[in-house]
Amino acid sequence: MSSAPGTALSELASAYERDGWCPLPYRLSTSAVALLRDRVGAICRQARPEVIWEKGGKAVRAIHGCHRFDEVCAALTRHPRLVALAESFLGGPVYVYQFKVNLKQAREGAAWPWHQDFAFWKREDGMPQPDAVNIAFSLDTVHEGNGPLTVIPGSHHLGLQDMYADGDAAQRSDWQRHVSADLAYTVAAERAGKLADELGTQLITGPAGSIHAFHPNIVHSSTNNESADRRALLLITYNAVRNSPPAPTRPDFLVDRNTAPIVAHEDHRLELCPS
Ligand code: SIN
Ligand code: MN
Repeated sequence: MSSAPGTALSELASAYERDGWCPLPYRLSTSAVALLRDRVGAICRQARPEVIWEKGGKAVRAIHGCHRFDEVCAALTRHPRLVALAESFLGGPVYVYQFKVNLKQAREGAAWPWHQDFAFWKREDGMPQPDAVNIAFSLDTVHEGNGPLTVIPGSHHLGLQDMYADGDAAQRSDWQRHVSADLAYTVAAERAGKLADELGTQLITGPAGSIHAFHPNIVHSSTNNESADRRALLLITYNAVRNSPPAPTRPDFLVDRNTAPIVAHEDHRLELCPS
């Protein structure tokens, strides 16, 4: 599936509604990718709770909540085209619920088992409805071999399919199990296999700068990165302001407490070009 540069928001919204994911008809410019990579590299070198390491501590797995302390990341969340897209998909004002970069370092980046994001947001944060949207930006070339995101198109129509992983409620609520390869809420491999047989799967690949949207209920996963190429994916989750959880308890770098509607603002350093 591809989207022509002039694709109207309404056409993108229909593809998103139907499939639970869609490529966006624009991408980050080369200089915007370079700037974001620089910021990500600098954040990874900082000792702060938002920096999450792979098991074994050899490589950074992810960085979280960067829009709260990095001005370039904050500027990206305010990009007028992104804000307009999120408002159109969600039918009203939006704010940034989560911001993260999953690094998938060369030969070190570990898998994300089959799961649905809304399982975490509903059960752990009390998000009322799946009225949020993930926007995923490839900061590296993403190919079959470096652990691309794999989605099951249409699975977002089926509601939550997940199973609780082993352990009691307190263990599941340990936020470390929401950011590690040992996820607290997963879709069993057998169930995901059945869904994949029925609905097919789609690898989200593309050059650095490509952008895709995907739904909170879509079943998705990604494999270990056994290649020599890093696969950094920057993810902004916009939530509808009307859908903000009333009393979240997870750390604020996982669930932003600032639910004020985001105000769009152009930043010349973060140009989007037709893809
Ligand atoms: C990944 O980075 O491959 C997983 C992203 C996600 O589950 O949202
Ligand atoms: Mn996910």
